[in-house]
Amino acid sequence: MRVLVSGGAGYIGSHTVLKLVAAGHDVVVVDDFSNSKPTVVGRLEALSGVHVPVHAIDLTDVEKTNQLFEHEQIDAVVHFAGFKAVGESVTRPLAYYRNNLDSTLALLEAMTRHGVHRLVFSSSATVYGEHAPVPYREDYEHLSSSSPYGQTKVMIERIMTDVAAASDGLKVALLRYFNPVGAHPSGQIGEDPQGIPNNLMPFLAQVAVGKRERLTVFGDDYPTADGTCERDYLHVEDLADGHVAALEHLDAMTDDVRAFNLGTGTGTSVLAMLHAFERAVGRELAYVVGPRRAGDLPAFWADPTRAHVELGWRATRTVDDMCADTWRWQSANPQGFPDA
Ligand code: WQD
Repeated sequence: MRVLVSGGAGYIGSHTVLKLVAAGHDVVVVDDFSNSKPTVVGRLEALSGVHVPVHAIDLTDVEKTNQLFEHEQIDAVVHFAGFKAVGESVTRPLAYYRNNLDSTLALLEAMTRHGVHRLVFSSSATVYGEHAPVPYREDYEHLSSSSPYGQTKVMIERIMTDVAAASDGLKVALLRYFNPVGAHPSGQIGEDPQGIPNNLMPFLAQVAVGKRERLTVFGDDYPTADGTCERDYLHVEDLADGHVAALEHLDAMTDDVRAFNLGTGTGTSVLAMLHAFERAVGRELAYVVGPRRAGDLPAFWADPTRAHVELGWRATRTVDDMCADTWRWQSANPQGFPDA
């Protein structure tokens, strides 16, 4: 199929582009490069051996988005594009609602106008909110999120559900990611956050490469085995495999819209991840224990049964794989992707 990948120059989007090409699909990338660099595309072409057409447009521009579908023969869409920093969304809610919702609405309108009826959406475990029983299951109905970022995911899932219900044939897979980490084993692409990393793994990687002095562990007084928060970390290569599996499942899907948890089904603590990263680097990493971070939940992980059974997908990479692949990327690219 010819697949439009929105946000295809981003962290998860770029890894998914490689898996789509490897599975025999043609890929077209659309990215406004607001949180990614054009140099990623050259790396993707070198790794995949194919030309990757790129449209550098803002999907909130309805006319340009529609023109994109006029010019490109699109069979399916994988929609990653969107602002994704939880903390930033609290201080810039309007920018998050405008960008994440308008881009999705423009995309859905263009898909409807051009008869494109296959859609995979990058959702998030954050939609389960603070009260869902662990492990998180897709049939939990009280979706909510404490951040504007998370709320855009809740709203977009609802928008896609309503549009699919009113459409003739639109099929949507809502992929709820847990904690994506890791990098392509080549070390040529990986997570490249702009500024100070919010998330644990890129921060650890920057401590290891000497860009940050030490990790601050946000609290060690949680009701968990070692007192630090536990999360379901998922290798980005497994996550990318999940997108291909979901895309190729759409035509056989009986429901118009179906949510799938993409996670390992196990929790790993902050300290356990720190020590795994030390094993990858071969030396100790400096850290201090600081106060809890507002909004953090003690522990959650996925029930990934539905993806196993219906998509035939299962996470295979280990925490040590995640750290080894992250370290190979970060040590080969201490400043991330070049600007040009
Ligand atoms: C993991 C653990 C921190 C940094 C976030 C978003 C979620 C999703 C995935 C988009 C927590 C601890 C972290 C640090 C630390 N993103 N930590 N020191 O918060 O589980 O999920 O990313 O969909 O929406 O909320 O991931 O990596 O930020 O934190 O101790 O410097 O590491 O307290 O316990 P999180 P995270």
